[in-house]
Amino acid sequence: MNDLDVSLFYLGIEEDMTIQTVGVIGCGLMGHGIAQVSAVAGHRVVVCEEEQEAIDRGMGRIRKSLDKLVEKEKVSAEDAQAALGRIQGTVQFDDLADCDLVVEAIIEDLEIKKTLFAKLGETCKPETIFASNTSSFSVGDMGKASGRPERMVGLHFFNPVQLMKLVEVVKTAETSDEVFASAKAFGEATGKVPVAANDTPGFVVNRLLVPYMADAMRMVDRGDATPADIDAGMTLGCGYPMGPFKLTDYVGLDTTLSILEGWHAADPENVLFEPPAILKQLVAEGKLGRKTGEGFYKWDGDKVA
Ligand code: 3HC
Repeated sequence: MNDLDVSLFYLGIEEDMTIQTVGVIGCGLMGHGIAQVSAVAGHRVVVCEEEQEAIDRGMGRIRKSLDKLVEKEKVSAEDAQAALGRIQGTVQFDDLADCDLVVEAIIEDLEIKKTLFAKLGETCKPETIFASNTSSFSVGDMGKASGRPERMVGLHFFNPVQLMKLVEVVKTAETSDEVFASAKAFGEATGKVPVAANDTPGFVVNRLLVPYMADAMRMVDRGDATPADIDAGMTLGCGYPMGPFKLTDYVGLDTTLSILEGWHAADPENVLFEPPAILKQLVAEGKLGRKTGEGFYKWDGDKVA
């Protein structure tokens, strides 16, 4: 045991011994959260971006989130400080070479992801496990691009990663049992409940969630009800924490549209996957949700204005 393992042992934090150092590619909406929960769990984290500015922005979000968790007494000030100290931001891709696990959390574009995994296959040590946080693409396709499909899994976290308790662990036809078990143990170490999913479009959650969000938008397209009334219906009538429109703003309208477009292209007969007119229109206007200050709602920072 090294010093870190000893201190984690006495803190009572269970650590997956096969994964010590975690690489995270992308420090945006999902990547910063994945880096944060990994570091809080005691892992050393190398978070990689193309531009230093993106690292600085992501680290700022991590600090803000940790401050909030300290304020709410979910994490002690000492543990928050220690977690921050375990995160190394970098713009050097080669810094990922010795990671035990690399989680990709970049934009939802399969060709860009495949190019990235091919580069990881050339860069990382042979034991490195590759994971994608994709919400809709084939994990197996990325595994093939990496040149080591048996070491590839999906690790799909939910937004906001710091608060949502689920991680989907996606097994492809090629993923080895050992790699799947390590990825599941890593998910548990970050405090999440892992569910096993096959490499099918949308896995478990998004396959149900995204068509539901799209159907709510089709109701608006038809003039059946307003976004505010549909949201009130689903929160007050069904106990959902957010209605479909607030949630789409939260996830990002561009992300939601790109998921639907990908599925629609692959299965044009399935009406559930058809991108709604209002979604296409808002994305074309640059109204992408919370991140741009406007989507179905106007936003003031993290809250609906
Ligand atoms: N880190 C730390 N604290 C955070 C935080 C973060 N990232 N995000 C929010 N908080 C804090 C807020 O600041 C707030 O603090 P305050 O009480 O001092 O104001 C506190 O958490 C609670 O936030 P809210 O006031 O907004 O209250 P809620 O009770 O609504 O909780 C929520 C927020 C957990 C996000 C809840 O609304 C929720 O569960 N929403 C649904 C989210 C969801 O469905 N996510 C899945 C999206 S789908 C997805 O990710 C898949 C993708 O692939 C498309």
